[in-house]
Amino acid sequence: MKIFAFINQKGGVGKTTIAINLARALSLRDYKILLIDFDPQANAGSGLGIKVGKEESIYQAIIEGYCEKFIKNPFPNLYLLPSSIDLVGLEVELVEYPNREYVLKNLIKNSFYQDKPLKDFFDFIFIDSPPSLSLITVNILTACEGIIIPLQCEYYALEGLSLLVKTIRGIKKSLNPDLMLFGLVLTMYDKRNKLSHEVAEEAKEHFKWIIFNTLIPRSVRVSEAPSFGKPVIDYSPNNKASEAFLKLADEFLERIKSRKKYP
Ligand SMILES: Nc1ncnc2c1ncn2[C@@H]1O[C@H](COP(=O)(O)OP(=O)(O)OP(=O)(O)O)[C@@H](O)[C@H]1O
Ligand SMILES: [Mg+2]
Repeated sequence: MKIFAFINQKGGVGKTTIAINLARALSLRDYKILLIDFDPQANAGSGLGIKVGKEESIYQAIIEGYCEKFIKNPFPNLYLLPSSIDLVGLEVELVEYPNREYVLKNLIKNSFYQDKPLKDFFDFIFIDSPPSLSLITVNILTACEGIIIPLQCEYYALEGLSLLVKTIRGIKKSLNPDLMLFGLVLTMYDKRNKLSHEVAEEAKEHFKWIIFNTLIPRSVRVSEAPSFGKPVIDYSPNNKASEAFLKLADEFLERIKSRKKYP
């Protein structure tokens, strides 16, 4: 299992932050990671200090059908296929595409990096997604193998989750039989806040079988890091959240090994 997507149709729940920092933590463990930003907000790019226009973004890569020349390498072992706001237009244009649900999957399948298929060059491909259940999200669900759902430790965290799970089941049945819900990550956890604790407990109860033990704490350093174009792991390495992301990476790797699908 190599291709993971970070999905939750709720906005601002920590998808991009987890994608960036889990990717960075794995890159520090010597894994090669490609982070694909498939969100017009292009937050994964700005969080890694990269801003590109339409011509240099995944939008153009989709049009050309190949992505090698668009891939950036902002940190050792960590690569990015950046997005731009123009991706908004793709949602409309996709309707006209012949295999409109498979556009991202085909891009990954047909692209090479340094003469190797993407799946051979990279140990993991991560896809960051927008806060919607749109055709873009369908493309992501069709292209990936494992889904990681971030949950913010706030009221309403679990609301909307059943729709998401239903959507995942539908795609698994129709477009992507390999799709699997790989894990749920609880984030922005504040141990002084009773509600945060209650949400975490409730989520653990409902999703015992799939939830990651590592809780990502709320920390102001996490929200500052993107303005420096760095993952918090680099911006503030001794921060509790940075430590949590490194622990999450270990748990992620253990889970993959225990499922015996990797390497
Ligand atoms: N552990 C944390 N502690 C404090 N702030 C955090 C934490 N994780 C994320 N944030 C902040 O919360 C906001 C939302 O996070 P993020 O952008 O990762 O969510 P998202 O789900 O990707 O949002 P969107 O749905 O808009 O793509 C950002 O400002 C981010 O810096
Ligand atoms: Mg995001």
